[in-house]
Amino acid sequence: MKKKAWSGRFSKGTNRLVEEFNASIPFDKRLFRFDILGSIAHATVLADAGILKKAEAGKIIAGLKAIEKEIEEGRFRPSIEMEDIHMAVEQRLTEKIGPLGGKLHTGRSRNDQVALDIRLYLKDNIYELIWLVHELKRAVVDVAGENIDTIMPGYTHLQRAQPVLLAHHLLAYYEMLKRDTGRLFDCLDRTDEMPLGAGALAGSPYNLNRKLTARLLGFARVTENSLDSVSDRDFIIEFLAASSILMMHLSRLSEELILWSSQEFGFIELSDAFSTGSSIMPQKKNPDVAELTRGKTGRVYGNLLTLLTAMKALPLAYNKDMQEDKEPLFDTIDTLKIILKVFPPMLRTMKVKKDAMLRATGAGFLNATDAADYLTRKGVPFREAHRIAGEAVAFCIKKKITLEDLDIADWQRFSRLFGPDIKKAVAIKNSLNTRRIYGGTAASTVKKRLKEVKAEVKKGCC
Ligand code: ARG
Repeated sequence: MKKKAWSGRFSKGTNRLVEEFNASIPFDKRLFRFDILGSIAHATVLADAGILKKAEAGKIIAGLKAIEKEIEEGRFRPSIEMEDIHMAVEQRLTEKIGPLGGKLHTGRSRNDQVALDIRLYLKDNIYELIWLVHELKRAVVDVAGENIDTIMPGYTHLQRAQPVLLAHHLLAYYEMLKRDTGRLFDCLDRTDEMPLGAGALAGSPYNLNRKLTARLLGFARVTENSLDSVSDRDFIIEFLAASSILMMHLSRLSEELILWSSQEFGFIELSDAFSTGSSIMPQKKNPDVAELTRGKTGRVYGNLLTLLTAMKALPLAYNKDMQEDKEPLFDTIDTLKIILKVFPPMLRTMKVKKDAMLRATGAGFLNATDAADYLTRKGVPFREAHRIAGEAVAFCIKKKITLEDLDIADWQRFSRLFGPDIKKAVAIKNSLNTRRIYGGTAASTVKKRLKEVKAEVKKGCC
């Protein structure tokens, strides 16, 4: 068995269980590209500082590139004894180019190295996620565009409340996703700092040009404090928080898709390609994608709590507890990616049952507020108007009719101020289209907003 890189002061080998328990290689091997990229930059900066000869740096870099290929092609599979991806790459480098490989870790610790790798990895993934959220925004906007004339009940307390346009309802999700994008960009900005040079905790004793490392790796800035550089995981926590909020939005949308595709609602039908069946009940068509998304929201919240809790009592600087940052992060990224990829085609292929949505606005007195507003416009204080309209609703419930069925004589039993134009005032279309206020559901207002958001998504993902 190979000796550990740190075996100098040890006289016994590592217990096998400890080896297994300690190793992060089973999950941090996915960082290999970023580890190698960081090492190439480090070797370049070591050469710049005169610590490595140019030719030595060249050999190290060539070796690192060859290792990257080996891992990509499955020719080099790091094992548990190698502990983590950083040691695995270094060990392989020495195997390939001899003792020169041992010079790579000059002026560096795994503590600043892992901080660098994870920042590189996260930056890369945040970009991809921003793009995937953009694709979802595009799908939401497109489906909204197809439903600019689809009238449906809006709900509060899941009770029919007031009519809205489906386009307006969907564009609410656009606003949520837009804020999610903003949060991902904010997080990206704080992830975009280069920690290498912090060494184990106190800073490297070599005169390394940290700004050059940052420039080579495309970082916006270098970190300011060596202790903070190796013990900061705020950027991951921030990412997990942003992801949790994004998942919460996806879960709310999922919940609506689940409800709407039920027979009770019957507002939409998901495509067969995005539904699953039952092993026993032949008639079933289930919205599993939406349900799983709702379910997986819990594990993303859990990931946030895992890391917050792992970090909460750690003294400065690095502690091994921090190795626990990776699985929650990786799991969150994997979960988000698949969901964000499956949602756009699922939304684009769902069938909207416009008639059923409109029909549902006919029952439930969604226009009761409009009756109250009618009186308010005639000078009745809103509270009084609310009571009168409530009495009209109670009357209709008793008679099993709707407000639209009332004739003028009926209306006038509740208030003399009701005139023949009350009929028009309580028409569902009218209820919608009086809400021309900025941000409201009137068709003209939603059309305007739709035009704006179409231009926004066309412009790009920011
Ligand atoms: N595998 C470790 C991690 O993920 C790398 C850093 C280890 N540093 C150390 N001093 N043991 O956190």
